[in-house]
Amino acid sequence: INYQTARFEASYGTVAQLPASTTPEVAVAGRSNVGKSSLLNKLFGRKGLVKVSATPGKTANINFFEVDGIRFVDLPGYGFAKVSQKEKQRWADLISGYFAQERSFNLVIALVDIRHDAQRLDHEMVAFLQESGLPFVVALTKADKLGRSKQAQQAAAIARQLGIDRDQVVVTSSETGLGVDELRRRIAEACL
Ligand code: GTP
Ligand code: MG
Repeated sequence: INYQTARFEASYGTVAQLPASTTPEVAVAGRSNVGKSSLLNKLFGRKGLVKVSATPGKTANINFFEVDGIRFVDLPGYGFAKVSQKEKQRWADLISGYFAQERSFNLVIALVDIRHDAQRLDHEMVAFLQESGLPFVVALTKADKLGRSKQAQQAAAIARQLGIDRDQVVVTSSETGLGVDELRRRIAEACL
């Protein structure tokens, strides 16, 4: 997969607008501000391709990117309190509507902040992925904010809390690039 060729495809504000799934898809999901868009930029090796913000709620639509015939899907975050109830509902509808469609779900990268114990919404996300039988890997984000031994400790703890195997968890940082090669391996296995 030649990530250099990454390009923005399109942005969709409603599920009805989504084009049919014609290629393998890799979706990035997780709570608001967990680092979804930043991780995609790091994967692509392209700083500004995906819009990032320190303010939660940056990604308000479903954004499609294309790399070498594989579609990468940047989903809005869930659980962010500071938008209206109506906007929250629109995001929730986008996420659940996307996964309810007949699509080629090759891999879901489910992001969880490594600094904290798994939160209610993290549990709900993983339970949903397990119940739906979707192939997924959990990427723990912002690992640069912890030392090495604390990273390992949190990775084991969060895997246990979520009830998944330790090898279904990848420790990542969009600052340092930690874990990005491992994620690329998992993506290649899932898509090729
Ligand atoms: P929404 O689109 O709002 O749901 O957020 P998102 O999950 O796409 O997060 P985004 O990539 O916009 O990043 C949110 C904030 O976290 C930004 O200030 C990023 O710079 C920061 N951030 C993301 N990843 C990392 C990381 O690996 N390390 C550090 N230190 N900061 C990060
Ligand atoms: Mg985002």
